[in-house]
Amino acid sequence: MAQAVSWWRYALVGVLVGALALAFYVAATGFPSSKVDAQDFVDLQQGATPHEGFRRAHAKGFCVAGDFVSSGALADYSTATLFAAGSTPLQGRISIAGNNPMAPDLKAPVRSLALSIETAAGDVWRTAMNTPPVMAVRHPQDFYQQLVALGNGTIQQFFAEHPESATFREWAAGYRASGSFATEVYHSINAFYLVAANGERQAVRWRAVPRAELVDTVPAEFADSDDALQQEFTARLREQPVVFDLVFTLAEASDDETDPTVLWPAARTEIVAGQIVLRSATAQLEGDCNAINFDPLVLPDGMAPTADKILRARSAAYAESYRRRAREQ
Ligand code: HEM
Repeated sequence: MAQAVSWWRYALVGVLVGALALAFYVAATGFPSSKVDAQDFVDLQQGATPHEGFRRAHAKGFCVAGDFVSSGALADYSTATLFAAGSTPLQGRISIAGNNPMAPDLKAPVRSLALSIETAAGDVWRTAMNTPPVMAVRHPQDFYQQLVALGNGTIQQFFAEHPESATFREWAAGYRASGSFATEVYHSINAFYLVAANGERQAVRWRAVPRAELVDTVPAEFADSDDALQQEFTARLREQPVVFDLVFTLAEASDDETDPTVLWPAARTEIVAGQIVLRSATAQLEGDCNAINFDPLVLPDGMAPTADKILRARSAAYAESYRRRAREQ
């Protein structure tokens, strides 16, 4: 009996020491790195004073609509009907990263294009793409810490402690933002599978490549506005549709489709699946994109997610952000 009592004492001391260590860790880092969930992400991303009714990340943006005009070139790789030759209507959203729906367009480090392509039969493909081709980290809890580091001015130290961020940093050092949303390349970053009729899976990434001629700087007539890029895009649409090629890169066996920090070699096969044709733009709270959650796990039959952990974290966080703004609207 005496032995049992002292065992419990040791256990109790152990629990108290553990709790103390956790409290110190939370105080030092903001959150235990292995327990980040969707609430934590959205709490952090929205900041101390959330902009009610808006997305908690990529809060500034506008709705676009148009068509995906498929070339049929992916039909052998995927049974998704939207990859058969032909045209499918799409709703989309063009945005900048950050939680402020009034932020100046030209200050944002990341620009984005999100699409929801829906066939008449109700098959839906949603994708949210960013200007960087890779992420700086491969685990959701590390991304959380990256956001903490961005907020508290320790991002350089964070990068030094995360060598997997090398490709991202190299891209960021060479990236020059263009003068138009229409002349950026937007990347899926995460990889997915195309699934063929015989069940064969092909790992892929995709990117939207502009057909429009590169514009280095935003035209002077818009440059002083906080909405410079939005105004440039709307003016452009009055002249003609904005078109992107949707280019798929096919992984080979040596490529790790679950790691969003690594670029696949440039020699990989690329297939132009078709064109994204954007024909109209609407303010975000009035347009169809307001009610759309661009969850990257909304995929049609013929596409499937990889085991990339970031994809699950994204899906859960987008749903949480959607719930918050929907309640407020
Ligand atoms: C763990 C990593 C990530 C987290 C936690 C995260 C979180 C979020 C959240 C909370 C939103 C707002 C969603 C809404 O209210 O509809 C959002 C939007 C967005 N994210 Fe992420 N994100 C992550 C990674 C990525 C990556 C890798 C990409 C690019 C491939 C990306 C692209 C976008 C885009 C384009 C939007 C705006 C979509 C729209 O227009 O509604 N995110 N993200």
